[in-house]
Parts: sequence; structure tokens; C-alpha cells
Amino acid sequence: MPSSFQMSAQVSSEKNWTADTSRYNRAMIVIHWLTALLMFCTIPIGLMMTAMPRTSPVRETWFTIHKSIGVTILALVILRVIVRALSRAPSYPGTIGRLENVTASSVQFLLYVIMVWMCVTGYLNSLAGGHGFDWFFLFPVPDFVPRNRALAHLASTLHVAGQWAVYTLIAAHFLGAMFHLVARRDRVFHRMLP
Ligand code: HEM
Repeated sequence: MPSSFQMSAQVSSEKNWTADTSRYNRAMIVIHWLTALLMFCTIPIGLMMTAMPRTSPVRETWFTIHKSIGVTILALVILRVIVRALSRAPSYPGTIGRLENVTASSVQFLLYVIMVWMCVTGYLNSLAGGHGFDWFFLFPVPDFVPRNRALAHLASTLHVAGQWAVYTLIAAHFLGAMFHLVARRDRVFHRMLP
């Protein structure tokens, strides 16, 4: 039979495991890396499909894949905002200054904004232009937008321009993470490791 000391040590170690405030929770970590993977796929697909000749027999297929990944990213962003609101972000190590904290948080916030921006403008461009699509060829994505060429054109311009903000923010986010991993060698990067 375990002694009362062993039992209290076990309870205490379980408490430490469940209340690990130095890392994001598992749901946030899964959503983060899944979103990163999908972004990593949808950007080159977007560039490749728009460079294809209009006569290409596979152009439409790539558009559907790009759009399907895009709306999946939007669903993940919504899920992430809910999970984030219901849980606490881990605190930064004491070595992080106020300016650094504000910069990192601003880049993260703008990443959420640009992901929604890209998904909404892409959706408006497609649906207002009369190019509804099936999510990964499975079922039609709901169509809430009337046909409107001017709206489709505006959304297309905003979507194509938005890519530069995507590149800038991903680069800033990535370089920040690498700075902490390689130069600072603090625990910031580990907060999001699986
Ligand atoms: C975060 C998500 C997304 C990212 C990062 C993204 C990125 C891109 C990129 C880089 C391009 C190529 C732009 C160029 O011509 O240089 C593109 C084009 C396009 N994307 Fe997205 N996209 C996203 C979501 C979506 C969604 C959700 C849809 C539709 C439901 C969509 C529909 C389109 C369309 C129709 C084009 C062609 C634009 C045009 O030439 O008019 N995208 N996207």
C-alpha cells in the first residue's frame, strides 16, 4: 500500500502536469501546427494556380483545393479564438521586456486578422464571381453572396494584395521564434512545441 507521502507526491506531480502554465495547452498546439501546415500548402498552391494557363485541365482542381484549405483555415481560426478565450496563454519568461512582449503579441494578433482577411476576400471573390465550390470535392460550401462582378473584382484585388501582409507577418513571426530558439535560448519557442 502506498504511504501517505507517496500519495501526496503523486497528487502533486499530477497537479504540476495538468497546470503547466509554461506551455500552451494541447488544443492550442495542435491548432497552431495544423494552421501552419495548411498555410504552408495553400500559399504555393495559390501562386501556382494563378500562374496556370486558363485552358489547363487541372486549373479548376487546384482552385478548389486552394479554396478548401482556405475555408479550413478560417474554421481553425474561429476554433482557436474560442479555445484561446477559454484558456490562459502561458506567461513569458522574465527575460522578455515590455516592448518585446507587445511586438510579439501584435504580430500574433495581426496574423489572426490577415488569415480572416484572406479567407473572407477569397470567399467573396469566388462566390460573388459565381465560382462556388465543393469543400475538398465533398459538399458545397454555403453561398451567402449575390453575384456581383464589381464586388468580385474588389475582393480579388484585396486578396492578391493581402498576400504581402501574409509574407511579412509570417516572416516576422518565424524570425522572432528563431531568435528565441537560437540566440536567446530561452523557453519561448518551447511554449508551442508538441
Ligand atoms: C489564409 C488563407 C489564404 C491564403 C494565405 C491565400 C493566399 C493566396 C495567394 C498567395 C494567392 C495568389 C495571388 C496571386 O495571384 O499572386 C491566392 C489567390 C486566390 N485565392 Fe487565396 N488564400 C487564402 C484563402 C482563400 C480562400 C478561403 C479562398 C476562397 C474561398 C481563396 C480564393 C482565391 C482565389 C479565387 C484566388 C485567385 C485570385 C485572383 O487572381 O483573382 N483563397 N490566394
